[in-house]
Amino acid sequence: MEKKRILTGDRPTGRLHIGHYFGSLKTRVEMQNSGKYDPYILIADVQALTDNFNNPDKVRKNVREVMLDYLSVGLEPEKTTIYIQSMIPEVAELTVFYSNLVTISRLQRNPTVKTEIAQKKELFGESVTYGFLGYPVSQAADITAFEGALVPVGEDQLPLIEQCKEIVRKFNSIYGETLVEPEAVLSNAKRIKGLDGNEKMGKSLGNAIYLSDTPEEISKKVMSAVTDPNRIKKDSKGNPDICMVSYYHKLFSPKEECENVCEECRAGKRGCVACKKQLANNIIKTLEPIREKREYYEKRPELVDKFLIEGTQKARETAKETMKKVKRAMKLDYFE
Ligand code: TRP
Ligand code: SF4
Repeated sequence: MEKKRILTGDRPTGRLHIGHYFGSLKTRVEMQNSGKYDPYILIADVQALTDNFNNPDKVRKNVREVMLDYLSVGLEPEKTTIYIQSMIPEVAELTVFYSNLVTISRLQRNPTVKTEIAQKKELFGESVTYGFLGYPVSQAADITAFEGALVPVGEDQLPLIEQCKEIVRKFNSIYGETLVEPEAVLSNAKRIKGLDGNEKMGKSLGNAIYLSDTPEEISKKVMSAVTDPNRIKKDSKGNPDICMVSYYHKLFSPKEECENVCEECRAGKRGCVACKKQLANNIIKTLEPIREKREYYEKRPELVDKFLIEGTQKARETAKETMKKVKRAMKLDYFE
């Protein structure tokens, strides 16, 4: 049986952090190594530009940073096709074709787009760009150009997959069965809170630990984590349930250590500084192999470029095949 194609991607707007690691990267590596799938990962630079059009340097720089992050966690170009979105012109072409199959009001009702527009008032003011409003159409092209069958996503991305399915159905009903309808796979991975307790981890919030952080940076960040605010003295009884340090111990420390942390904290037998140091060490230890691998590739930029070029070439071939089918279905195959 043919392996199912998995399609995922990230906007290259910053380096990846441990939220990405637990949220999607870990699952991608597991799926890759299971050998059961044909995984494609796109670095969505065109999508990144929809809300960073005024900052092309940032997007360009982060294409390589994200690639380094991918390689560092164990994604392997021999097993996973990793490519740059803007280098696949078929995706842009498909976006234009699909734009006839989507109404403006449907895009305006898309919950993901709605939330994001509300968050980007500073950039867009009162009126959002055509490109940003339409990015779900471009994302539908991302998925269908490669006949992505499975799309592992977080909950926030579900409305985008739904919209993609609608486009596929509409296309197939008008032009004949051509496109593959994707299936969203809701990852059971959980969203990791920031060091400050914020539901979201992110650069703008300054509450994230990056895969590329040095041991010193990790220590410093852990020291600033939010603990039980009612604990004033070292021997006062604490509540680990409202402490971000204990939350992170559960992610990075062995089970036994976590149990000790909670027990000693509740009994007032644990100092927060020592508790944080122990956590920082465990995070550093966990991320060490990732950081070492990242450094290895950082020192070999030609190799990283070679991976990107090869992945993009391979993806392009796949997209060309889809484009042939699409043009035939749309009666645009003039001189074939
Ligand atoms: N929208 C996704 C994000 O912000 C990135 C993305 C672009 C994507 N194209 C995709 C994800 C196609 C899955 C499939 O994270
Ligand atoms: Fe948090 Fe540890 Fe301090 Fe308890 S002892 S409040 S778990 S840092």
